[in-house]
Amino acid sequence: MRQPFIAGNWKMHKTNQEAVDMVEELVDLVEGIDDVDIAICAPATALAPLNEVIADTNIALGAEDMHWKEEGAYTGEISPLMLKDVGCEYVILGHSERRGYFGETDKDVNKKVQTALKHDLKPIICVGESLAQREAGETKDIVKEQVLAALDGVTKNDLEVITVAYEPIWAIGTGKSATTEEANEVIKYIRDVMRNEFGKVADEIRIQYGGSVKPHNISEFMATSDIDGALVGSASLKAQSFADIVKFE
Ligand code: 13P
Repeated sequence: MRQPFIAGNWKMHKTNQEAVDMVEELVDLVEGIDDVDIAICAPATALAPLNEVIADTNIALGAEDMHWKEEGAYTGEISPLMLKDVGCEYVILGHSERRGYFGETDKDVNKKVQTALKHDLKPIICVGESLAQREAGETKDIVKEQVLAALDGVTKNDLEVITVAYEPIWAIGTGKSATTEEANEVIKYIRDVMRNEFGKVADEIRIQYGGSVKPHNISEFMATSDIDGALVGSASLKAQSFADIVKFE
């Protein structure tokens, strides 16, 4: 049985005061929920204060990215050791905004996945096609390539802590989500790809959908055979809407 997993990705939003206020409100709204895993992935500056707010709650903390080295001359970067130090359990890797705006490659994503695993951080690996790629019928080839590249060298045991997030780029921040059938078909395919590569453990891996997930559409996604949760952008910025998504039934 795969436990549903709803994670918020705040992207470049919120000062520390705003972050703390939101999560304090969220703690009350989702109190007692133990059949859904909940995480907030926040900007690096907010992680330390949020770690105090979420202590002894059912909300886990995640980062939005990290470097693949433990330390060194990499101005502006954040290392896995720093993320562990401020209480992160998860780290988003390979988000399409990192790939698109900052030139992150499949190889970079793979190096980050390896380092995250080494330091007991659970990767949320993002994959997804652009509109042009979808229209050219390349969706499955693209996600297969991204998934296999990201998981290159990963062992079956390590796979258990990994989450994959399928986020079609054309659905991110556009208000235009994929249909549940479209999303489930690709996510089922991603699971088949992982089953071919790693065997039955693929049936235990959680695969989220991301792209304009809102309180009004979450239950449709969650009713499908293969979608195990959501990676939520703008609707994760407000405590009430994120809580409504977490309580999707
Ligand atoms: P939106 O929910 O704002 O479309 O963002 C999705 C996303 O990119 C989550 O990582």
